[in-house]
Amino acid sequence: MPAPAVSAACATLDNYLLYPDHALAGRIAEARERLGRAAVILGHHYQRDEVVRFADFRGDSLQLSRQAAASQADHIVFCGVHFMAESADLLRRPHQKVLLPDLQAGCSMADMASLDQVEQAWEELERLQLADEVLPVAYVNSTAAIKAFCGRHGGLTCTSANARQVLSWAWARKPKILFLPDQHLGRNTAHDLGVALDEMLVWNPRQAYGGNSWERLRQTRIWLWQGHCSVHARFQPRHVEQVRADYPGVKVLVHPECPFEVVQRADLSGSTEFIIRQITQAPAGSIWAVGTEVHLVHRLARENPHCTVLHLDAAGCPWCSTMFRITPAHLCWTLEQLLAGQAVNVITVPEANRAAARLALDRMLQLAV
Ligand code: 13P
Ligand code: SF4
Repeated sequence: MPAPAVSAACATLDNYLLYPDHALAGRIAEARERLGRAAVILGHHYQRDEVVRFADFRGDSLQLSRQAAASQADHIVFCGVHFMAESADLLRRPHQKVLLPDLQAGCSMADMASLDQVEQAWEELERLQLADEVLPVAYVNSTAAIKAFCGRHGGLTCTSANARQVLSWAWARKPKILFLPDQHLGRNTAHDLGVALDEMLVWNPRQAYGGNSWERLRQTRIWLWQGHCSVHARFQPRHVEQVRADYPGVKVLVHPECPFEVVQRADLSGSTEFIIRQITQAPAGSIWAVGTEVHLVHRLARENPHCTVLHLDAAGCPWCSTMFRITPAHLCWTLEQLLAGQAVNVITVPEANRAAARLALDRMLQLAV
């Protein structure tokens, strides 16, 4: 039975959370229609089906930041996580507002690099007279404060879709890169570009000089911040070996946030959009084991019956608990509050970081990749 409409007076989020997911579908559709062009709903590929089905645009992080920049709507409802909504806020037009249906939808990877830690690392590099040789690059899965740090020091952001181009751009300008905050994307991409593993170092923010000697720091071409995605870091080489033993001829396709040893054993790796493209264009009857967030993998399996899509770690089923925080109840509440004239959960990057963070994003977007 569909949930009855809630009057604006008792429309706290708690009222919505009482209903099961499916009960709010009709109300979300109605609110979406009544809002018309005043609102646009963006949905990342890792969002659950009951939410992403209402997205006007689905995409990977790069596509969604472009979409946010191109949108004319007054309100951008971002079904994703906090750093994505921050990027949308940096790229929006002056009259627009960005809303994140649940403010708790963060990203554990983004939280692994705080501004204090990164500034301390930079001070240490200055003390060693190395900072002038370094360009900082932040994966977009980082806070606006970290993006601003990169912007201030001549650096830029990247996504999993354009990391190769961004690192090449950075090395054309400086001999060394400080890559934040995902060590795996940094290592996989640098290796792809021909950098040897012994020219890369992990920077441990809890140790002086990242836990490295001066000699090693000097020889390094890329310092990999010791951060990771809690979803993708769980994939292991044994998962690849097992699926190859169980399904001879299987193609293994993984996200570059997976550990190096997993990416090396896979047939292909790339962003969520790349993964989707491989599966939709796959030959009929082919078998694929996909190493990424489970909601996307299950959707790919359902929407592509021409091939077989398996999860690389079927027993573990890694899912992103923060992406999962955006429920139909949160989306319905956000849209109905907009209809009642109230913008809830507005994400605003503080003025002190806006210009520099935007600069880091613009440098990436201007690379046109
Ligand atoms: P992409 O969609 O850019 O591949 O990012 C994956 C991810 O982990 C988003 O949080
Ligand atoms: Fe962060 Fe990983 Fe979740 Fe993406 S999948 S939002 S990187 S924790």
